[in-house]
Amino acid sequence: MKIISVVGARPNFMKIAPFIKEIKKYNIEHLLVHTGQHYDDEMSLYFFQDLNIPAADINLGIGSGSHAEQVGNTMVAFEKVLIEQKPDWVVVMGDVNATLACSITAKKMHVKVCHIEAGLRSRDDKMPEEINRLVTDRISDLLLTPDFFSTENLIKEGVDKSKIHHVGNIMIDTLESNVDKAKNKNVSEIILKNSLRGQPNKVFKNFTEFGVITMHRPSNVDNFAVLSNIVDFFCNNKSLNFSLFWTIHPRTKIKLKEFNLWDSILRNNRIILLNPLRYHDMLKLNLDAKIFFTDSGGIQEECTVLKTPCITLRTNTERPITLIEHGGVSILVKNDIKIIENNLDLVLNQSVYSKRPKYWDGNVANRCLKAILEYN
Ligand code: UD1
Repeated sequence: MKIISVVGARPNFMKIAPFIKEIKKYNIEHLLVHTGQHYDDEMSLYFFQDLNIPAADINLGIGSGSHAEQVGNTMVAFEKVLIEQKPDWVVVMGDVNATLACSITAKKMHVKVCHIEAGLRSRDDKMPEEINRLVTDRISDLLLTPDFFSTENLIKEGVDKSKIHHVGNIMIDTLESNVDKAKNKNVSEIILKNSLRGQPNKVFKNFTEFGVITMHRPSNVDNFAVLSNIVDFFCNNKSLNFSLFWTIHPRTKIKLKEFNLWDSILRNNRIILLNPLRYHDMLKLNLDAKIFFTDSGGIQEECTVLKTPCITLRTNTERPITLIEHGGVSILVKNDIKIIENNLDLVLNQSVYSKRPKYWDGNVANRCLKAILEYN
């Protein structure tokens, strides 16, 4: 059997690491294709290094661009790979543009497609990821779901049950095998090493209580009124009487500068701006943080397992299992400051309990491989 697995952007790397480790146990020919959507060292290479992912066999070098450019260019380049390599399976994960582009290309060439993290639905078709999920799931031969909500979504959409396997969340395999290494890290050292220049008075501290911010979704960062309200809340809200570490995604950095909000954050004493963090550094912050403010689905999931209270700056989530009402830690607050303020006390002053979803147990890659091998 020959398998090609595909990655393109940062959230894919935590998902491919355990899959590749598992595949080596079998007599399977495997090639890793990186589409090159994320190309900065801190968005790509460092994750390969830190998670022991072997260098990609083929890098398509797609880079940044509009959605049509990224998807179209990936399809053209990936088609050539498939013509040459003739795999039996293409394995895609998550919901990034690589997931969409490579699943369509494979399906059109009659190569079987396996989607890891199938069935997530935000029901918000303004999200590019939702389109990617819908199309990929519609054409995949094998749909491996992280939780029962996802399985139900697929069944309701009419997917043949024999194609769906509830395997659990593969990213938690990576968390489990790296959490001990992360625990040994030192928060103050992480801040000193990763803080952006221009904030010298803020970083030489022994940090005991802190929150973490990550934000990159167009709905939060592309609009001046929305982003400036959020920035004002983080800079000035009185209930936030602890340091806030803000790891800055490239898109967010561009927007903060464009909207002239960058300097006011640099000057603010509470917020420390950080470059995108390496995997173990981020995990350490999550282990010790008092609270997370995020619009990332992956962070919502990691917070659920680590029991870190999570304020999710979105109107919806494709991961309802991470919400407090379903046993998780996360509260949806849109980007409405009033709602954030109303929920802040609840999150800061009450213990948040979470229960680990079924099969988020560190053995997911093994179940994925078995599902592929037993497919007929
Ligand atoms: C992509 C994914 C999103 C995921 C996110 C995690 C899609 C549709 N979206 O969004 O689901 O949550 O990754 O990061 O696939 N840039 C750099 N260096 C890089 C990569 C990008 O500077 O290595 C800049 C470019 O200016 C680019 C911008 O960041 O225009 C956004 O990158 P892009 O690949 O378009 O999507 P993300 O917003 O990162």
